[in-house]
Amino acid sequence: MKNFLDLVKKRHSIRKYKPDPVPREMIEKCLEAARHAPTACNKQSWKFHIVEGELKNRLVEVSLGGVFVPNKWASTVPVIAVIAMNLDLIIHRVGGKVSGVDYHMVDAGIAGEHFVLQATELGLGTCWIGWFNKKAVKKLLDIPAGWDVPAMIGLGFPDEEPIDKNRRHISEISDFKADD
Ligand SMILES: Cc1cc2nc3c(=O)[nH]c(=O)nc-3n(C[C@H](O)[C@H](O)[C@H](O)COP(=O)(O)O)c2cc1C
Repeated sequence: MKNFLDLVKKRHSIRKYKPDPVPREMIEKCLEAARHAPTACNKQSWKFHIVEGELKNRLVEVSLGGVFVPNKWASTVPVIAVIAMNLDLIIHRVGGKVSGVDYHMVDAGIAGEHFVLQATELGLGTCWIGWFNKKAVKKLLDIPAGWDVPAMIGLGFPDEEPIDKNRRHISEISDFKADD
């Protein structure tokens, strides 16, 4: 990988993992990347719950069954990072109401992707998980009321070749505007 764009293009969602555990130092490096993400008003209101071992199996069981079963692939993933966001902050409660912007969602997305790109650089596979039983996750991990869980991220050593997904052309997703 020569530059940032190469790293970005190397990242793909991985849905099959080797059973090997992920060394703690690697996970900590991903957290370090997440920690440096920008946040609205620098509130840094995230908590990354790193779930491994038997508790991870239980997490998959309670949060990815029933209608969430398409995500059963997560039973092979050794680590799930559960992103929790503190909503009991003025910026999120009042600021968001005034502006209409969901700051905690934006903050979670940026930090989560920092985490994911660092994992990619380390040769780890990841997959965002947005289709899960949030209530069950909060109950299992004892995440208090006043906190939201916008997403989870699977993390481990890949056991499949990534699929290069289509991307829309730059001209379709951008629009340059100016007065003159
Ligand atoms: C917010 C978000 C939620 C997602 N939720 C899921 C999910 O629940 N299950 C899944 O298998 N993939 C999920 N994905 C992965 C997307 O399907 C994937 O990023 C997309 O198809 C593009 O493929 P790529 O990541 O390999 O480039 C999610 C991605 C994002 C950003």
